[in-house]
Amino acid sequence: MNSDLSNSPPLRGGLGEAFLDKLSESKKIVFFTGAGISAESGIPTFRGKDGIWNKLRPEELANFNAFMRNPQMVWEWYNHRKKIIHESKPNTGHLAISEMQDLFDEVTVVTQNIDNLHRRAGSKNIFELHGNIERNFCINCRTFYNEELDFANGVPKCKCGGLIRPDVVWFGEYLPEDQFEGSEKAAVLSDMFFVVGTSAVVYPAAGLVHAAKRAGSFIVEVNIEPTEISSICHESFWGEAGKILPEIVKAVKSNNR
Ligand code: APR
Repeated sequence: MNSDLSNSPPLRGGLGEAFLDKLSESKKIVFFTGAGISAESGIPTFRGKDGIWNKLRPEELANFNAFMRNPQMVWEWYNHRKKIIHESKPNTGHLAISEMQDLFDEVTVVTQNIDNLHRRAGSKNIFELHGNIERNFCINCRTFYNEELDFANGVPKCKCGGLIRPDVVWFGEYLPEDQFEGSEKAAVLSDMFFVVGTSAVVYPAAGLVHAAKRAGSFIVEVNIEPTEISSICHESFWGEAGKILPEIVKAVKSNNR
């Protein structure tokens, strides 16, 4: 069932009794999130109208060969993104997910975002499929450098002489095994699997939605528009995550009373 909640006043019924009943029976909840949940924090998404990839070419910025060809340029771009992220803060969508931790037995966040906003919102149980912009490591010896890096002498180097890169997953690279395996386990064990603010076109991350569905989880989409996986969802709420997720928290709380 599809419900356009973007302009509707907060109606418990708007969330649908079937969905709320299913939610009240659910113990293990997964929130699978993408760039859309951070859009209301002022962080641009990748695709869609003002998406980053409409202006910039991922093959020039978000892959290892591009980094080796021109590490300065790649670092300028990540430092630009880091500045936007540091000037932003978690929005009501991130905060609602964090609040859900106290309302259900187990809440797991599986995010494609590198912006650390779920952690800053207070979420505890987080899998980062595409890394985290706050971490960096040496491409030679994999020593991690998570403090602010010094760019005074150009691209920072490790004590071993190797180039330091951001700990983000670039196109053509494998996802961190522990993060993917943990996400997969959470997905197949979940009672309800929320898909929030992702176009669900990037694999293997988007494959988790299908894995959860195959395992019998109740799939709920929250997005401003339909996506590649809308057809396999049990429920889709069309609207901004920062509006819809707090409504779900409110409904659960009133349900718990
Ligand atoms: N609330 C809910 N959904 C939103 C909002 C919002 N306020 N704003 C935008 N969206 C939706 C868009 O409709 C779109 O479906 O969020 C989605 C963002 O999709 P993408 O820009 O493709 O981002 P994402 O799915 O996270 O990309 C996956 O691709 O570029 C790589 O590594 C990068 O992790 C990223 C991956």
